[in-house]
Amino acid sequence: MDQVLTKTEKINVLFSAVEADPFVKVGGLGDVAYALPYALRNLHPEDINNHEIDIRLVIPCHSFSCDFQDTFTERTVFDVKTAMGDIPTTAYSTEINGLPIYIISSRLIPQDTSVYTSDDYVDGLKFLFFSQATLALVKHLNWQPDIFHVNDWHTAITPYLIDLQKSNGRSEGRMKSVLTIHNLPFLGTGTEEAINDLGIPFSSNSKLPVWARKLPLPIGLSASDKIVAVSPTYANEILTPEFGCGLDKYLSMRKNSLSGIVNGIDTQLWNPATDSEILARYSIHNLYERQNNKHVLQNELKLQLDPDIPLLAFIGRMSHQKGIDLIIDGLRLLKGVPWQAIILGTGEVKLEKQALQLESEFPDNVRTLIKYDSKFSRRIYAGADMLLMPSRYEPCGLAQMIAMRYGCIPIARATGGLKDTISDVSKSLNATGFLFEEESGQALADTILKAVETYKNKPGWHIMQTKAMQKDFSWHQSALKYTRLYMGLQG
Ligand code: GLC
Repeated sequence: MDQVLTKTEKINVLFSAVEADPFVKVGGLGDVAYALPYALRNLHPEDINNHEIDIRLVIPCHSFSCDFQDTFTERTVFDVKTAMGDIPTTAYSTEINGLPIYIISSRLIPQDTSVYTSDDYVDGLKFLFFSQATLALVKHLNWQPDIFHVNDWHTAITPYLIDLQKSNGRSEGRMKSVLTIHNLPFLGTGTEEAINDLGIPFSSNSKLPVWARKLPLPIGLSASDKIVAVSPTYANEILTPEFGCGLDKYLSMRKNSLSGIVNGIDTQLWNPATDSEILARYSIHNLYERQNNKHVLQNELKLQLDPDIPLLAFIGRMSHQKGIDLIIDGLRLLKGVPWQAIILGTGEVKLEKQALQLESEFPDNVRTLIKYDSKFSRRIYAGADMLLMPSRYEPCGLAQMIAMRYGCIPIARATGGLKDTISDVSKSLNATGFLFEEESGQALADTILKAVETYKNKPGWHIMQTKAMQKDFSWHQSALKYTRLYMGLQG
């Protein structure tokens, strides 16, 4: 039989973000910015209609560079034209697990500050310049992206810069663009002066509200060919005044270009069967081992050593978004049932204090740990019974997916990615968690009571844990969806 040779079609994508694991990770964006390009690059052409995604990542050179400098292989030096003059810029390149990465360094990207500071002008200048530099870089590579994929307000402006070039008849204008929204409320407010100083004209798009024409995220949205929110529910929510941050009407006009794609988790990194940080490793086949992890946690935190007391946990940023105040209110209302809770995280000082106050009110039940501790968080996922995630809004959310993979049942608000990734208890045998609607401590407390009731029925709880652990949260699914989106932009 003749061998049929199928030609693979390549799509070149430049993915830009201001944080990326393992270089620097502050929040969820950092996880996505490495894991998604990596997954896209490793898709098998057969799974994507004989396409190959040549995706490369570009990030700013923050102070992390020293740790990684040994791996930098090449450097390209060029000037970036701005209203502040031609700014000398260097791009280094490296590779992590086969993913090519460019790192942009310049005096406008200071290395002595954290990724995000409290100074809007400083951040604006850094990120908007970075966006200009990524576009300038393209002219100096032996490689032309078909698609520029940007993320959040920090890099959102690049599609707009591409449009400006298009109107000047420049070749980079052929590039298409995708903008992923990880967190809509961060519009880049306070960066107007930086935009001006760099010589970027404000948008004149009359469909955008007037105030929005001066802000990076809305300007970027108006120029992007495709807009992605990090879950289908969030993609719908941002069309409403409650979640739309004043852009709901504009986004509704762009509805046909907007979609929602849930993020994944690194299922190798997050695997209770191989996790070296936890004492007793387990899978659905020896789930009873989990008890040992709970015992160790209770012992270490000097909580009563009782396997039947439900152990609740919060792991994350102590912010208004994450609803830590609802947890504090809700736990105060939990009467008549035994419970224990571990609260781990850092964030707004006022909320940290309230969480500590809760521990002093409930010394037998609550342990509050004000720190970021990813190793300890693994032991909590592996030992706690339930994860509390009453977020006011949650574009996608990561902790609930990790928790399910570890058999720690999420109790979460029915919003954004939480709604899309957790199957509520009403789904009976396919349930993987508990969802509630109302944004109140009382609603959370009621749902915890419901969960505690279910928890008493051990075989039922076991089924729920097994279903949760079997859910497919791999990046593969998300990567397939992004590929379809990229393919739609071709030709
Ligand atoms: C932001 C969102 C979070 C999402 C993450 C990655 O941090 O708040 O919900 O999971 O971005 O997309």
